[in-house]
Amino acid sequence: MARHIVARTSEIPAGGNKVFGLEGRDIVVFHVNGEFFALLNRCPHEGAPLEKAACVARLTSPEPGIYHRDRVGEMLRCPWHGWEFDIRNGQSWFDPNRFRIRSYPVAVESGAELQKGPYVAETFPVHIEDNYVIVEV
Ligand code: FES
Repeated sequence: MARHIVARTSEIPAGGNKVFGLEGRDIVVFHVNGEFFALLNRCPHEGAPLEKAACVARLTSPEPGIYHRDRVGEMLRCPWHGWEFDIRNGQSWFDPNRFRIRSYPVAVESGAELQKGPYVAETFPVHIEDNYVIVEV
């Protein structure tokens, strides 16, 4: 899996998202609660663009009339028919064994780290003694 630098963190506002075309696929990156999540921008039901999905809370009910909201902003509600998915892994909330949105790993790294790159040249100690440069190998 190739790594792609897609945006500065400031280009995707908190609670917002941005779509990127990567290797022939539309991938939407969400910024939720200080974290970034990447999903295929296509609902597995009938293909709605998930960039239009609402980021809602998970709603649970231990008994009739009692409701709890947690993980605020971490459930995606599809704009077409309202199916809900876990933004962390694309898992369907209604039918987890049959439906899942393809999710992709996201990393946030500093520009300095990216600038370094993965390749390191071999270096050798250098000394100057009188008028001579001496390299240790
Ligand atoms: S297209 Fe997403 S729920 Fe139908």
